[in-house]
Amino acid sequence: MSELQGKRVFVTGSGAGIGKAIAALFVQRGAQVVVSDVNADSAERSAGEIGAAGVANCDVTDEGQVEAAVQQAVDLLGGLDVLVNNAGVEIASPLLQQSTESFDKIFAVNVRGTFVTMKAATPHLVASQGNIVNMASIAGVGGSPLLGSYCATKAAVIQMTRVAAVEMRPTGVRVNAVCPGFADTAMVDRLKPDFEAATQMPFGDLVAAKQGRLGTPEDIAEVAAFLASDRAAWVTGSHYVLDGGLTASLV
Ligand SMILES: NC(=O)c1ccc[n+]([C@@H]2O[C@H](COP(=O)([O-])OP(=O)(O)OC[C@H]3O[C@@H](n4cnc5c(N)ncnc54)[C@H](O)[C@@H]3O)[C@@H](O)[C@H]2O)c1
Repeated sequence: MSELQGKRVFVTGSGAGIGKAIAALFVQRGAQVVVSDVNADSAERSAGEIGAAGVANCDVTDEGQVEAAVQQAVDLLGGLDVLVNNAGVEIASPLLQQSTESFDKIFAVNVRGTFVTMKAATPHLVASQGNIVNMASIAGVGGSPLLGSYCATKAAVIQMTRVAAVEMRPTGVRVNAVCPGFADTAMVDRLKPDFEAATQMPFGDLVAAKQGRLGTPEDIAEVAAFLASDRAAWVTGSHYVLDGGLTASLV
């Protein structure tokens, strides 16, 4: 299948986890992908493994680095059709016990990082009639103990997605978000001990009860690929929940 044939794509945080799976699937579907990460070693490794067109690293909290990396990707690819804003971090803490510094840090990556990367890519996406896929979370749709500031950042990503989509509609640029439940990555591995301590329940049991199974990075990449493709030509301002039914149930 080559639903992304010829699409020129920049994926932040694609050295590992969901971002890497998105970059890999997009390459399989015919896209030319530039990998980007704050961790240069993992970006190089990821790009080599998946057959990316190149690497343009940035820390998304640094606007100058983001602008330079987007320009590098545009130079490598000869333009840009898709931005995937995937880079994000978690913090497990009861909200009102979290330090203000760590609150600022998670907002700097998840919200400000998404904002500055959208801004840097927009002129190129307007030129190509391209689109943006932002990585939100079900944590942006509902609350979760221990994930207070994370939930707030992902709600902000959904709202920026909506407003950018409406404001950009006249330009032909689409903007959508993906909201996964718990998926099998290093991020969730890091969260497990705190969730188990808070719920007094093995994390596997919690996941089985709430969402059937852990999501895979590939589950999420499939939805991102659809949104990035021309098949989603009338889809904009949406946030797609994929969580095995977790948010569908009150009990
Ligand atoms: N894993 C899940 O269950 C889950 C669920 C919902 C949403 N998400 C979201 O999906 C995205 C990817 O999560 P993941 O589980 O793959 O995480 P991960 O920690 O496994 O990978 C994240 C990648 O982003 C990079 N990164 C971190 N900070 C960065 C920065 N400042 N600039 C550039 N790159 C940076 C890391 O180096 C890493 O390669 C995040 O936005 C996360 O919030 C994850």
